[in-house]
Amino acid sequence: MTPPVQSGTEFTIDDADLSSAPLMAALTETTSGESWDSESVANILALPRSFGLIAHGAGQPLGFLLAQCAAGESEIINLVVAPAARRQGIGGALLAGAMARARGMAAQIMFLEVADDNAAARALYDRQGFAQVGRRPDYYRRDPVNYVDALILRCELITQGKISA
Ligand SMILES: CC(C)(COP(=O)(O)OP(=O)(O)OC[C@H]1O[C@@H](n2cnc3c(N)ncnc32)[C@H](O)[C@@H]1OP(=O)(O)O)[C@@H](O)C(=O)NCCC(=O)NCCS
Repeated sequence: MTPPVQSGTEFTIDDADLSSAPLMAALTETTSGESWDSESVANILALPRSFGLIAHGAGQPLGFLLAQCAAGESEIINLVVAPAARRQGIGGALLAGAMARARGMAAQIMFLEVADDNAAARALYDRQGFAQVGRRPDYYRRDPVNYVDALILRCELITQGKISA
C-alpha cells in the first residue's frame, strides 16, 4: 500500500515504458475497480498507437494513465491515482497530459467510459470539458447481483477559433 502522501508533495509526470508496467499494475490493486496484471499493462503499452503516463512523487509511483489514438480519435483506457495521493491534482495533470499528447498524435476527439456511480472521476472529467454522449446499461458488475451503467464521455481536443479583423 502507498504510504500517506503529504499534501503539497511535488510530483512529476513522465512517459511510461514497458519497465513501468509492474508499477502501473500495482497501482490498479490500490483501487476498488478491476486490478490489472503487469502483462496486460505491458501488452497495451506495446501497441503502436498507445501511450502511458506515470506520476511519481515522494520517491514512489502515485498514478498512471493509459490511452490510445487511432484515426483522429483517442481513448482513455485506464486512469488510477493511489488513494493516499488523491485530491492533489495528479489525476487532472495526467488527464491534461494525455489530452496534449493525443492532440500531438493528431487526435481531434477523446472518449472514455466511466461508471455512473463514480462521482470522483465524473467530477474530474466534467471539469476537463468531457460531456456524456452515450450510456451502456449494466456495464460494470459491482457484486453478483448489482450492476452499474457505463457513461460514454467525449471531449473535443481541437478548439476552433476565429480571428476577428
Ligand atoms: C478519479 C481519480 C483518478 C481522480 O484523481 P485525483 O488525483 O484525486 O484527481 P485531482 O486531484 O486531479 O482532482 C481534480 C478535480 O476532480 C474532482 N474530483 C476529484 N476527486 C473527487 C472526489 N472524490 N469528489 C468530488 N470531486 C472530485 C474535483 O473537481 C477535483 O478538483 P479539486 O480537488 O480542486 O476540487 C481518482 O479518484 C482515482 O484513481 N479513482 C479510482 C480509479 C478511477 O475511478 N479511475 C477513473 C476510471 S474512469
